[in-house]
Amino acid sequence: MSATASSSGGHAASPSPAAASSSGPLAGTVTVPGDKSVSHRALIFGALAIGETRISGLLEGEDVLNTAKACAALGARVERLGAGEWRVEGVGIGGLRAPAAPLDFGNSGTGARLMMGMVAGNPIEATFDGDASLRRRPMRRILDPLEKMGVSVEEAAEGGRLPIRLKGPRDLIPITYESPVASAQIKSAVLLAGLGAPGETTLIEKEASRDHTERMLAHFGAELRVESHGAHGRKVTLKGRPELKPTPIHVPADPSSAAFPLVAALIVPGSDVTIKGVMINPLRTGLFKTLKEMGASIELLGERVEGGESVADLRVRHSALTGVDVPAERAPSMIDEYPVLAVAAAFARGTTRMRGLSELRVKESDRLAAVAAGLAQAGVTYAIEGDDLIVEGTGTVAGGGTVATHMDHRIAMSFLVMGLATGKPMKIDDISFVATSFPAFVPLMRGLGAAIEVAS
Ligand code: S3P
Repeated sequence: MSATASSSGGHAASPSPAAASSSGPLAGTVTVPGDKSVSHRALIFGALAIGETRISGLLEGEDVLNTAKACAALGARVERLGAGEWRVEGVGIGGLRAPAAPLDFGNSGTGARLMMGMVAGNPIEATFDGDASLRRRPMRRILDPLEKMGVSVEEAAEGGRLPIRLKGPRDLIPITYESPVASAQIKSAVLLAGLGAPGETTLIEKEASRDHTERMLAHFGAELRVESHGAHGRKVTLKGRPELKPTPIHVPADPSSAAFPLVAALIVPGSDVTIKGVMINPLRTGLFKTLKEMGASIELLGERVEGGESVADLRVRHSALTGVDVPAERAPSMIDEYPVLAVAAAFARGTTRMRGLSELRVKESDRLAAVAAGLAQAGVTYAIEGDDLIVEGTGTVAGGGTVATHMDHRIAMSFLVMGLATGKPMKIDDISFVATSFPAFVPLMRGLGAAIEVAS
């Protein structure tokens, strides 16, 4: 791997506080970074193909750089050619080598979980590790199906947490696995492992989760069938041991990152912002749908297909929002967007009820608790009932507190967005984790007119 890439994986060790205050109208046209989910997968599939995969628009955030390093440690040649331009020389399914040192995924659940599946189909041992946030997150959900496929868990911290040492068997067993939670990470780990098994591996999910892995498998020439399962679910069947053929990948802009300037434009009076080339895969756009139901002015312009995904430019204007009821079955399509939706809900008039948020408790932080604490700091009335978050909006937010971000980039960005329209500034204790998914968040937002200060 190139020196540039390997030297930029870790973020600042000491916390860096930041503050956002009431801003004039936000205006301009911006491009947010490449999609995080697609970026991880582009590197992983590139490493599993035989030959050279060219990637453009790769998100160069810490999470993805850690995946790039892990792919290199497993034997792929991973090289940065220029901004967002990468080249991966893959070693083929079953061709990974044992890494010399533990693989460090930093803050990234996606990197760690997908690569556990990737490694499973190789008769090697590898240790997976991460930062304090990732070490707290559940990994049993990945170990369970992998153990059924014959992988042995040589070592794991209490409760099946990182650090974890896995050993892939000589011959992996193909399975049919019904996932207990709608999770693209579980689905992807099982399918990536299934690449190394003879015969068919089947994954069933009760609610459809993001389908980038399935799309990329097809893009690289694997044979798979996707069928509907029940009212909202899917059944994915993959034929094992294909030869993956390298194909160029263009990574579209991340709708989960677009969510921040988008909600900022909705809540700051007079704003008119355009976000270019945002991926509008229907399994990722629950937030846009919900905001439109709330009365948001979001126009999709120039819809087109780029690199196998639909994209559009989003024109967003300040809007009077109204509270809505968000059904639980929409959660997988907007799972990372609830913190910023809670911010929009605080500026809406009326009650917003977000149902079925149990998975928020096991993200980079306990996002249900972190969002609630942030709303309390800002003087917003809210309640948690079971797994539902209820926000009582009055159209304005007092602001004025300091929000604990708990090593969570999306908590940090959500409450800075909130501060752009509150009476008093909103402070956050640490902005450094924004580098995991959106390194240029502050300059991009400032370019639109956002008043964000970072302590040096
Ligand atoms: C991701 C899946 C989601 C999401 C995460 C990225 C992926 O997690 O929260 O940020 O790339 O597969 P789950 O599918 O586990 O909910």
